[in-house]
Formats: sequence, C-alpha cells, structure tokens
Amino acid sequence: MPRKVNYGVDYDDDDDYDDYDEYDYGYEVEENVEAPSEEETINHGVWRCSICTYDNDATLSACDICGVLRSPLVNNSTYDGKKTAPFKFDVPSPDDVVSNGLRSSKLGSKANIFDSKSSKVSSSVVGKNEAAKVQLSTKRSGSSYDSTAKDKHNRLDEIISSKNLEVDALSSSRNSDNSSASMPKGRIDIVDESIVVDNLRSSVKRSSLMPKEIHNMVDDSSSSRNGGEAHSLTSNVKNMSLAAKSGHSKDTSAGRANSYAQYKPEEWMLPEKAEDSLTQLNLAIVGHVDSGKSTLSGRLLHLLGRISQKEMHKYEKESKLQGKGSFAYAWALDESAEERERGITMTVAVAYFDSKRYHVVVLDSPGHKDFVPNMITGATQADAAILVVDASIGSFEAGMDGAKGQTREHAQLIRSFGVDQIIVAVNKMDTVEYSKNRFDFLKSQLWTFLRSCGFKDSSVSWIPLSVVENQNLVAAPSDVRLSWYHGPYLLDAIDSFQPPTRDFSKPLLIPICDVIRSPSQGQVSACGKLEAGAVRSGSKVLVMPSANIATVRSLERGSQACTIARAGDNVAVNLHGIDGNLVLAGGVLCHPDFPVAIAKHLELKVLVLDGATPILIGSQLEFHIHHAKEAARVAKISSLLDSKTGKVTKKAPRCIVAKQSAVVEVILHEPVCAEEFSKCKALGRVFLRTLGRTVAVGIVTRIV
Ligand code: GTP
Ligand code: MG
Repeated sequence: MPRKVNYGVDYDDDDDYDDYDEYDYGYEVEENVEAPSEEETINHGVWRCSICTYDNDATLSACDICGVLRSPLVNNSTYDGKKTAPFKFDVPSPDDVVSNGLRSSKLGSKANIFDSKSSKVSSSVVGKNEAAKVQLSTKRSGSSYDSTAKDKHNRLDEIISSKNLEVDALSSSRNSDNSSASMPKGRIDIVDESIVVDNLRSSVKRSSLMPKEIHNMVDDSSSSRNGGEAHSLTSNVKNMSLAAKSGHSKDTSAGRANSYAQYKPEEWMLPEKAEDSLTQLNLAIVGHVDSGKSTLSGRLLHLLGRISQKEMHKYEKESKLQGKGSFAYAWALDESAEERERGITMTVAVAYFDSKRYHVVVLDSPGHKDFVPNMITGATQADAAILVVDASIGSFEAGMDGAKGQTREHAQLIRSFGVDQIIVAVNKMDTVEYSKNRFDFLKSQLWTFLRSCGFKDSSVSWIPLSVVENQNLVAAPSDVRLSWYHGPYLLDAIDSFQPPTRDFSKPLLIPICDVIRSPSQGQVSACGKLEAGAVRSGSKVLVMPSANIATVRSLERGSQACTIARAGDNVAVNLHGIDGNLVLAGGVLCHPDFPVAIAKHLELKVLVLDGATPILIGSQLEFHIHHAKEAARVAKISSLLDSKTGKVTKKAPRCIVAKQSAVVEVILHEPVCAEEFSKCKALGRVFLRTLGRTVAVGIVTRIV
C-alpha cells in the first residue's frame, strides 16, 4: 500500500533481518494446492510464505510482506472469530491513532482484505522496540477480545443485516435495467483502446494523508488494525453475499447504470475555472528491480528542493555507515529498516514535487517480483508512468527476461491500469559510456514489446540518463558523451504529459486504500483517490461493502485540511456516525444513491500474459481488483476470443494459454466491491496472479 514519504525521520535500525534470498520461482499454474507446501511449514502458529519465505502469523491468510495468498485453497473461513478478532493496542501516542495503512499496509497487507495482522509482522517493519510493544499489546488485546468478540460480532451482524435491508430496499425501489449487459464486443487484450485507453484515470495519488506526527504514530501501531478488519470484513461480506445471492447486487449495479444519466452534480462539485493552477499528476515509477527507481525519485526530490541539503547529508552518512552508500538517494523513499538493509523497495512510497505544469505525486514502486501486488495497489492510481530500465550490460536483459524480469510485467500492468503515456528512462547510461548504440539497441528491443502492449509511439518518450551522475534529469545533459541526444530532459518530458481527464460529473466513488482509526477519539478515516464525483464536509457517504451510511466530518488532502475534494484528489475522509470496524481497505465509499455492486461470481474477459502457463477450469488464482484481493477459482471458460477482432473463436475450451483472450467466470472466496468495466473502469479492472506472478489481466464484463 502506498505510504507517504517522511523525510528526515529517524528509524530504529537495530533489527535483525534475514538475508534476502532471491529464489527462482518457476511459474506454474497449480490446480491442486491443497496443502501448504514444504516451505510453508506451520510451526508454532507461524507459516512460511512460499514466495518470500517470511514467517507469518498463522491467522494471516496472505503473506504480510509480499501479499501472496497463503495458498489459494486455504479456506479463510477456517479462521475463527477469535483469531481474526480486532486487537486492541496501546498505541504509544496521545492521539491513540491506529492505522490500517501507511507503513505496514504498504506491505500489501491491505490489499488482502482478510488479513489479520500479526505482531511478528510489525517487528520487521517497526523495529525491535516497537515490535516488543506490539507483542505485548497483542497479548493484552487478544485476551480482552475473548470476552467481547462474540458480542461485537453479533452486533456487527445486526447492523449489517439492517443495512442490507436498507440497501435492498433502495435497490428495488430503483428501476433495474437489463443492461448489466456485457462489454461491447471488441478486443479484450491490453492493446484494445476501448478497454485500456482509460481517459478517466483521473489524477492524484494519496497525497500525504496526514501530518508527520500522526504518520509516525500510525507506523508504530499499524499492526493492530488488520485483526479487526479481518474479522469485521469477513462478517460484512458474508452478509453482503446474501444480498448478492438474492440478486440484489445485480439490481444495485443496474440501478447505478440507470441513474448515471440522471445524475446531476451539484454546483460545488464542479471545479471552478481559476482553481488549481497546477494540475495533479500521479506518476508511477516502475521497472525491474534495482533499475534505479528510488534513486531517481530521491534525486529528483533533492534537485527540486523537496529534500534539504541537511537531510541529504544525513542519508549519505547513514547509508555509508551501513555499507550502502550508493543507496543514499533511495533512502529518502525506502524508509523502513528492512528496505534499507536489503537495498530494495518493498512498498510504494509517495512523495511530491512541482514541475512547471504539474503537482506531481510520485509513486515509487517496488521492482522485485515478490512485491508486484504492492506495486499494483499503488500504481493502479497512476495517470502516467516512468518505466525505468537499467542500461548496463546484462541488467536490461535480466529485466526483459520473460520469467524473472519485471520490465515487461510492469509495462503490461500499467498499460492495463489505463496508463497510456509513459517515459522510458534509460538509466545508468554512465555504465555504458553513454553509448548511443546501447541506447538504440534497448529502444528497439523494448519498443516492439511496448507496442504489443498497446502503447502508441507518440505517447512514449525515450530519455537516456544517469541518476548518479545527474545527467538529463532537470536540465540538458552536460556530459559530452551524451551530446548525440537532442530530446527533452526528464522534467521537461514530465511536463509534456497530457493532463489527466477527471470524472467530476459522476456520482462519488472512492476505492478505499487505507483506513486510519483513532479509537480513543472515535474517529475513522478512509483514504483513497476519488475516482469520480466530489465530497465535502457534511456529505453523507455510503460505506461498502458494509452498506452503512456515514457522514464526512472533515477531509485532508496533501497533509492539509480541505473542505471539498473532487475527482482525482487523493484524500483522507474523516467519517463519523459509523463503527470504525465497518470501514475497510478494499471497500469503497460511494454516493448513497449509487451503491457499488458486491460480487462473488464474475464474468471476465481476460488476456493471459506472455509466458504464463495455461489457466484451466478449476485453477486457483489470486484475484485483484482496485484495492481488494481475494482467492478465486476459475469456474468456467466460456469462450476463446480472437485477440484482434474480439470474436468468439471457440466455445468452452478446456484451457487458455499465453497470449490468448477468453471469457471466463470466476468464483471468489468472499465477495468484493466490483462493477462492470463498461460502467466503472476503476472498479472493473482485474488482475489474476498465482505463485507470485501476474498471469492475466482483464475486465469485469458481468456480475453473475
Ligand atoms: P527496487 O526498488 O528494489 O526495485 O530498486 P530501485 O529500482 O529502486 O533501485 P535503487 O534506486 O534502489 O538503486 C539500485 C542501485 O542502482 C543503487 O546502488 C543505485 O546507486 C544504483 N543506481 C541508480 N541509478 C544509477 C545510475 O544512474 N548509475 C549507476 N551506475 N548506478 C545507479
Ligand atoms: Mg526502489
């Protein structure tokens, strides 16, 4: 989950960390992953992730580090209420802020909406001292829960049931239309403009979200929350699934479609002309591991005055002391002790700078393949991207490797997020003597691939640069060896991006990325990007999937309080009038009259990615949609599609192989908020993953 970068914060670097091992995880679609694998040994209430080898608490259904599901077939429902109970933490801060996100949620745990976070997880994130506190509090809270959990569970169920009735009534009072209809026929692959040219990816990453102090407190306490979420969401969605079963979810969906045309935004919802001289641009920095993404982000922030000389000096000193001198700039983004120790980014970091045209929200993504789920949750909000490739001999080739490289996977993913304009930053040109030949070679290799992903030549800029030697970043290159290059420098190219289009005149929609709770003050804040509509203090919002109405107490954008937030803004929405446990990451805030659908059985059009092994009926996969992740089973493969024309080429095939498009039906372990792509792009894009790899991208065509 994205986390705001907190410059100049001291970290406890005393943790012991296991060496980071790079494993060769040959990709296979496993049909029968019944029992935990050998790596996944359950030992004293701990299971080991078969992907990143992290020892997770037994209550977690997905790895808290890399977000990979424990095993697609492990039944979440086996986690009883006790295990997934909300922990009560003694948060070491006066404000008693308990967060769902930032530092730890950054680890992708939030994407797994059924996580219950373990104290052990924190130890890897917050350091020994904090971990000790967390463990103590977990114990205490565990016992306090025992006495209250049942009551609370019952109470939640009651609330939810009554809310379900309200929603059902709401839905049935509306005309349902039969247009829950599938997508118009066409190519489903990520090349398809109808699917991917997502002009509606309005801007703005979760800007800051909260002041520094709160952010710190949140970090310390973050491991507390998910236990609560796991419990409450499980009960919530179970209730919601009843509605889905009885067909209400479809009604809801149809209701939205019907009323969209009738929806009239109020005057305050539309931006005034003079407002916002700088447009916000969410810029994802993606690419293969070690290509220099964090170093690039850190250096840009430093060059543009966002990191002071003093702070930079501190990073340099500390990184040298740890024998990681070359990571000084990356340290501005890689904040956790673990990231610094390992020299890799594990979660998406969020930072800001202003260019001439844009207020740029930098989303520095992890490049390592184990953290692709985290990359997805952050970069899915991007308006544009910088794909960083490492020009050095062998490194570019490693990034392009179909099985292990992330250059291709990241490019495919961001394209399917709807990002159609990118800069390819060919970094580390210093290592190849700024060779034009090498640059041209990389360009020709990558260009072919980018075209196949659906990027238009005119929307891709190619920039040779060296972050370490500060060449071609915020000014034209000074090194004569780069005199052959006559294009724009990086900052110029960022300013050349087309401004994102925003959905101001549609009903409110905020997929929830993070939840911040302040139990002592009875406050809960849902964080995320407004995909559509607008919200202001006093507005009523519908919190899904629990279907509760809450009132907006206040809003925060970019660490600043604000009164109105509009499509594209990334905000923390402080809610009141709702039980905090009913607001969950992976859920959605929406307009009370336009509830999003809740679905467990979906029809998808998917494109199986290059290099993926076949998907069969019965295949168990991780299903990713906006900020939610759920175990899924392929229930049906309805038809194979011609990837050029979109026409059905074969009915009911037995499997789909790499590069094939198909219509499939998946059944999720628990329902998620979803919409047909034709109605709502942000809630209609899906990614299917297994064993640490993205195997298919697609769209929701029908909620079954
Ligand atoms: P992940 O987040 O783990 O995927 O890595 P990353 O892409 O963020 O790479 P990072 O910024 O951590 O840099 C990796 C290494 O590349 C560091 O040692 C950097 O100093 C080095 N590096 C970055 N840019 C350059 C460059 O322009 N030239 C050279 N020679 N090294 C560079
Ligand atoms: Mg990095």
